[in-house]
Amino acid sequence: MTETIRFLMCATDFYEVDYVINPWMEGNIKKSSFDRAKEQWHKLYKIIKEHAIVDLVKPEKGWPDMVFTANAGLVLGKNVIISRFLHKERQGEEPYFKKWFEENGYNVYELPKDLPFEGAGDALFDREGRWLWAGYGFRSELDSHPYLAKWLDTEVLSLRLIDDRFYHLDTCFCPLSGGYLLYYPEAFDFYSNRLIELRVPEEKRIAIEEADAVNFACNAVNINSVVIMNKVSETLQENLTKVGFQVIQTELTEFLKAGGAAKCLTLRVTEPVLEDVHATVSVESRTIRMEGHLLDAGIMNQALDLIVEKGGSFKVLNFNLGIERQSTSVAEVRVSAPSHEVMEDIMTLLIDLGACSLPQEICDALTEAVKSEGVAPDDFYVSTIYPTEVRLNSEWVLVQNQRMDGCIAVNKTDSGITASCKLIRDLQVGEEVVVGVEGIRTMRQTQSREQRHSQEFTFMGAGVSSERRVELIVEQIAWELRQIRDRGGKVVVTAGPVVIHTGGGQHLSRLIREGYVQALLAGNAIAVHDIEQSMMGTSLGVDMQRGIPVHGGHRHHLKVINSIRGCGSIANAVEKGLLTRGVMYECVKNNVPFCLAGSIRDDGPLPDTQMDLIKAQTEYSELLKGTDMILMLSTMLHSIGVGNMTPAGVKMVCVDINPAVVTKLSDRGSIESVGVVTDVGLFLSLLVQQLDKLTSRYPIHPTV
Ligand code: ARG
Repeated sequence: MTETIRFLMCATDFYEVDYVINPWMEGNIKKSSFDRAKEQWHKLYKIIKEHAIVDLVKPEKGWPDMVFTANAGLVLGKNVIISRFLHKERQGEEPYFKKWFEENGYNVYELPKDLPFEGAGDALFDREGRWLWAGYGFRSELDSHPYLAKWLDTEVLSLRLIDDRFYHLDTCFCPLSGGYLLYYPEAFDFYSNRLIELRVPEEKRIAIEEADAVNFACNAVNINSVVIMNKVSETLQENLTKVGFQVIQTELTEFLKAGGAAKCLTLRVTEPVLEDVHATVSVESRTIRMEGHLLDAGIMNQALDLIVEKGGSFKVLNFNLGIERQSTSVAEVRVSAPSHEVMEDIMTLLIDLGACSLPQEICDALTEAVKSEGVAPDDFYVSTIYPTEVRLNSEWVLVQNQRMDGCIAVNKTDSGITASCKLIRDLQVGEEVVVGVEGIRTMRQTQSREQRHSQEFTFMGAGVSSERRVELIVEQIAWELRQIRDRGGKVVVTAGPVVIHTGGGQHLSRLIREGYVQALLAGNAIAVHDIEQSMMGTSLGVDMQRGIPVHGGHRHHLKVINSIRGCGSIANAVEKGLLTRGVMYECVKNNVPFCLAGSIRDDGPLPDTQMDLIKAQTEYSELLKGTDMILMLSTMLHSIGVGNMTPAGVKMVCVDINPAVVTKLSDRGSIESVGVVTDVGLFLSLLVQQLDKLTSRYPIHPTV
């Protein structure tokens, strides 16, 4: 027996499953046998007494979970941090445990109220005493970890639990002597697993299977080379024996019903202090400020959810609710993350939601020079569609050429500082690029409740797509198109070959002819089938008048490609009088610029098709400059490409028969997109009808 090791236990007099505060308790209320629990507890007590001293705390009526002394607090040397239970069902245990520690000569530390921490159930020392592993995610708050580090003067490594069956760290994680670790990796998030792998070498990690995990194999008591646990698989027993542990199995079925086993029933109250270990904690906190229709637009929920989803935690310090329907709200939120890396992840997403540091904490954006051409510094900030400002020399500078998925390049000259979005591939050596998350803010247009709902209505309305609803949306779009044309604005169309197959070619041709379209961005296919229809009356071999396949029609489009290749370009074909109608014809005739971006499946291609995709992207983005509205007509590929180049604020109308495509294109977090689920040919014919109506009603200029 080792004199210096002591444990605290609490007898089963009042033990029972009385309530549900973890998934194991569900369906087990009043299902544990008093006698069997007592017997199992005594067996465990006897086994531990053979290896250490066991102290007892008096059980108290009405506090059935008091048997789980692991949750009494966390001890190191003569210091103890008393638990603050998350659930009121266990909070009444706190004073009894506190009393025991005080009577036994410990210095008692108490966490602030409302900062849950459940003791040694969620905090386990490395058995060599080198550091403390601390869990969070279900019962204990991440923000309690800095207190553990400070009060116990130890290094704290935060681990995030993600499976609610393993709600306490000691249900899935058990440091063993000799630097070994018994654990269930699936219970932890990605970062936590990486941290574990960094600290515990592979040959010391004993990862267990789910079958053992749900038998609480990790909930083991380790005293030197002895490991005391509930029944486990033979494989696990062998694995432990192989590396020199003596495994003692003892049945604890009655306690599993409450979500606990061997380790939960004990608290080691002698934890040696290592002189050369001192407080460090990688938990980082910072305060952000958000302003806008935080509730109406759902931004507050989104922000808080993403903090937790990404492994952080938060405390709302201030929430100034806008009282009037039109007034905005302001919130200040303290965000904590287990490491700098996670904090940066969370901050990037919060910045996208419009969050900013507190005015007094704002500093300049950090930049780093590009070292090799077309490669950004590791930590580069990825741009979004939202207007963005970066703080340089203590001033906010608006980023030019806003687009998503770019870098922000900073250019300092004598005449001042500018910043602009650039693609990774365009970066030049020596160019300064914004890195990290400091001094960056984005402006989310603050949508009010009304705006949001009208938008949603439009979208959903299209989704259900009753004929009348599509008509209503088309009316709105026609009105908008007419206004843009009359004020000399710019509409860009992206279109796929379905436009031609569904008979929409004639309508799109009219839109171009009548000045509603200022550029066409498409691929090889639509041009090929448009020209095929103009020259041969078929679209991919289908007769457009009769709607039936023409014998040998599959050859038509190749003939057409060949003819245009013979002319050298589409424009030449028009000039020669070979091409006399259709979408491409109207583009040429009306000087509407187009770019046909190639792809792997292209036949031909047409001489005009740009097969160098980098050049095609550049041409697309040139043609998109200054656009007011984009009509996306049944092409996912080109529309997504276009979406990626477009800043927030440009109206996008996405038409597709497939609701999934419409959702994908409309769902850019921008209020400016409208989705219409319908046949694109039908959509175009309705649109032309509506425009005609407008023309007859307002021949010259509709009053806005
Ligand atoms: N019913 C108890 C609870 O949910 C079980 C505690 C188990 N203790 C532990 N250290 N895992 O709080």
